[in-house]
Amino acid sequence: MARQELMEHIEILMEPIDTIQVKEVRDADTLRAAAETIGAMLLALPHLFPPTTNLYDPKVQMPATLALPRIWTDFGTFYQLAGAAASASEAMGSAQGATQLRAASKQLRSSCDACHALFLRAYLPPKVQDSDYKFDFDSALHRK
Ligand code: HEC
Repeated sequence: MARQELMEHIEILMEPIDTIQVKEVRDADTLRAAAETIGAMLLALPHLFPPTTNLYDPKVQMPATLALPRIWTDFGTFYQLAGAAASASEAMGSAQGATQLRAASKQLRSSCDACHALFLRAYLPPKVQDSDYKFDFDSALHRK
């Protein structure tokens, strides 16, 4: 889906922005430009979620989308969080100096996390099956 490509592109642009949390700030202009591009992409984001793309299937291990159905029952919140993340990007786009840039980068990452926490399926490790409990280890290991 187009929105997944958009998200992956955003993630790539975020990489140098994330690294300034732990590394020296170099090339502030590039960081600001990346943040501005991310901001523009985030404004487009909600438009890539028409109701026809509400296709999440909790039963499959690799669903076609990780976007939870809640997006379409609470689109107002979803839209608002996209706007908040776009604003955080713009703030980073005009941040000056290492301290401001670091603070803005942290805010921007939190704005991604805020939306993901509500609307993206969390990573779930494979579930333990009922049959796993019933499995008779003793006889399988000839330990009777
Ligand atoms: C308004 C909500 C929202 C915001 C803000 C948002 N995302 Fe997402 N993101 C989603 C949704 C929903 C998906 C799942 C899309 C799908 O699977 O169809 C997603 C998926 C992703 C994925 C892919 C996960 C995967 O395993 O497929 C990445 C990477 C990602 N987002 C990065 C980011 C980054 C980085 C930011 C911040 C700059 C961000 N997102 C901001 C809603 C958001």
